[in-house]
Amino acid sequence: MLLLLIASLILVSTSAMPNNFINKTSDYFVKEISNSPGIDEILASKEKFVKPQFFAPILSDAELTTLELVDKYGYNGELHKVITYDGYILELHRITGRSNSSVVQKPVAFVMHGILGSSAIWVLSGPEKSLAFILADAGYDVWLANARGTMYSRKHRHLSIQDKKYWDFSWHEIGTRDLPAMIDYVVNTTGREKLFYLGHSQGTTTFFVMAAELPEYQKNIQAMFAMAPVVYCGRMPSPVMQFLAKFSCSINALLKLIGKYEFEPTSEAMNIFKKIVCAEDTITQSLCSNLLFLITGFDSEQLNKTLLPITLAHIPAGTATKQMMHYAQLINSGILVGPGKFRQYDYGPFGNLKEYGWLIPPSYNLSKIQVPVSLHYSTNDWLANVKDVHKLYKELGNPYGKFRVPFEKFNHLDFMWAIDVKELLYEKILSLMTHFPH
Ligand SMILES: *[C@@H]1O[C@H](CO)[C@@H](O)[C@H](O)[C@H]1NC(C)=O
Ligand SMILES: *[C@@H]1O[C@H](CO)[C@@H](O)[C@H](O)[C@H]1NC(C)=O
Ligand SMILES: *[C@@H]1O[C@H](CO)[C@@H](O)[C@H](O)[C@H]1NC(C)=O
Ligand SMILES: *[C@@H]1O[C@H](CO)[C@@H](O)[C@H](O)[C@H]1NC(C)=O
Ligand SMILES: *[C@@H]1O[C@H](CO)[C@@H](O)[C@H](O)[C@H]1NC(C)=O
Repeated sequence: MLLLLIASLILVSTSAMPNNFINKTSDYFVKEISNSPGIDEILASKEKFVKPQFFAPILSDAELTTLELVDKYGYNGELHKVITYDGYILELHRITGRSNSSVVQKPVAFVMHGILGSSAIWVLSGPEKSLAFILADAGYDVWLANARGTMYSRKHRHLSIQDKKYWDFSWHEIGTRDLPAMIDYVVNTTGREKLFYLGHSQGTTTFFVMAAELPEYQKNIQAMFAMAPVVYCGRMPSPVMQFLAKFSCSINALLKLIGKYEFEPTSEAMNIFKKIVCAEDTITQSLCSNLLFLITGFDSEQLNKTLLPITLAHIPAGTATKQMMHYAQLINSGILVGPGKFRQYDYGPFGNLKEYGWLIPPSYNLSKIQVPVSLHYSTNDWLANVKDVHKLYKELGNPYGKFRVPFEKFNHLDFMWAIDVKELLYEKILSLMTHFPH
């Protein structure tokens, strides 16, 4: 019965999908999701969870941690630990400059990774192209954050990552608990009252959550630079995210497929994702076996194939299933045609009553955001639809600028690793940063 319901849901929503969605991802999108192999068997199977096999690391950079990479490239790295009030122990990775540079007071650049990422994504591509090193060379005191659940922040005062309770968080908690704790710590440690905030993807979502829910933290922010901002998700083109959104109404079946607490899709789910995203022959198997690439797409001339074994070894870096479900809910709030809502987690009618005292989860109030925000987006981004970015821009309390990356095929991952990311994006951000007091 349940399976019938799911099957019909898929059929209905597939046929209801507007044209522009199909066109956007036409190269990879399998129009008949319902043709995916053996959904029924998968849902019924009791097979043990098998961790997806990632590309075997062949370069040494693949095996180095963030701070080891910082050291390898000749910079001064520091490890700092922060404990949130609910007990999560987070690592901050600081780069104070080149190893041979003298210690001086510098303006702070605080950099937050996106979904499935960690601080490592900002140092992987070496001194010429990595945002962290470019910022350090430009004279910033760089602090790379790691959200709860990621590979550097998996400790807790009294919970283990085996505990269901450990994974009971979404990006709402990252925004309202992790970011404030880390920002307090950086302000205290550096004595700098204001810092520059740079975020990618979920690293922008979490900032907007913090600034809307705890507006007092904005006194510590000089300016915010949002790369591939993800706030309104109603028109998110990512086929895998749309797939998750479609399933999210049959939550138990979905959780069986994608991991109950930590987001760890079964190999069956990975096969479905591959079927949805990967066209035959065009892309190497290694890409199609990596969750992040499946979710964000990788159709770009800006992909550096030499870098791949390294990036694939560092991602995905740990994410709660609830983070994904929260995004899926935002997608559903738009029913594929509108921007949808930017709002808190939906626990279902009775849960909502208990949690919020009302049936509908409260929305985040973007007009409370008074720090200058500039949005950096692109037209080929599977997670940040251009229309949804424009809507976000209109609602911000103090928008500073909206900048489209001048490269047609720039995608969600290119914000981190594109061959020309420095020229296309980072130099723009660095020049905008100089408009503010240092
Ligand atoms: C999508 O593609 C179809 C056929 O290729 C075309 O008729 C339609 O106008 C396209 N839709 C958009 C929104 O571009
Ligand atoms: C530090 O080393 C870098 C690269 O080796 C060099 O470009 C720079 O001039 C050096 N700085 C100082 C202060 O020695
Ligand atoms: C690709 O990445 C490697 C490793 O970081 C680097 O040496 C190389 O210059 C990059 N290639 C291009 C075209 O940027
Ligand atoms: C920062 O310093 C203030 C005042 O000294 C102190 O109350 C607060 O606990 C400190 N916060 C952190 C995160 O260290
Ligand atoms: C959102 O915040 C603004 C500014 O603080 C306030 O005027 C407005 O009433 C708030 N809207 C809602 C729906 O709470």
